[in-house]
Amino acid sequence: MEVLTHSPRETQKLGEKISADLKLGDILALYGELGSGKTTFIQGLARGLGIKKRVISPTFVFIRQYPVAGHRSPVTFYHVDLYRINEVTEAKGLGLEEIFADPGAIVVIEWADRIKEIFT
Ligand SMILES: Nc1ncnc2c1ncn2[C@@H]1O[C@H](COP(=O)(O)OP(=O)(O)OP(=O)(O)O)[C@@H](O)[C@H]1O
Ligand SMILES: [Mg+2]
Repeated sequence: MEVLTHSPRETQKLGEKISADLKLGDILALYGELGSGKTTFIQGLARGLGIKKRVISPTFVFIRQYPVAGHRSPVTFYHVDLYRINEVTEAKGLGLEEIFADPGAIVVIEWADRIKEIFT
């Protein structure tokens, strides 16, 4: 499926729509050139999940986490940004293994291509 959006608002709306299909344990791997709309899309995902806090680019932080309300057990939305990671070895120590193993996690990764070896 291919979807083309024409404005930031549309990109957010797409994220919001797709959030309805997310299940616990899902990991969304986003890739695309600088400024292609990854964070904007994630803002839509977060809104769709009912997260009120503003989602900002975690470029200098690598990982930001947001509690998702309305579940019996704790659910966390993790926003990972690997822009500053050049290769998979540099991602060690970020705690990604723990996040991927969290049964209450929904994870979205910007610049997932930086660690594509992990997914193949
Ligand atoms: N479909 C669109 N058309 C035009 N502009 C858009 C569209 N989607 C998002 N934008 C705008 O593009 C800019 C970059 O978007 P965003 O920060 O989401 O990209 P990014 O892929 O996360 O960038 P980075 O690689 O730096 O993390 C923002 O100003 C955003 O509002
Ligand atoms: Mg971004």
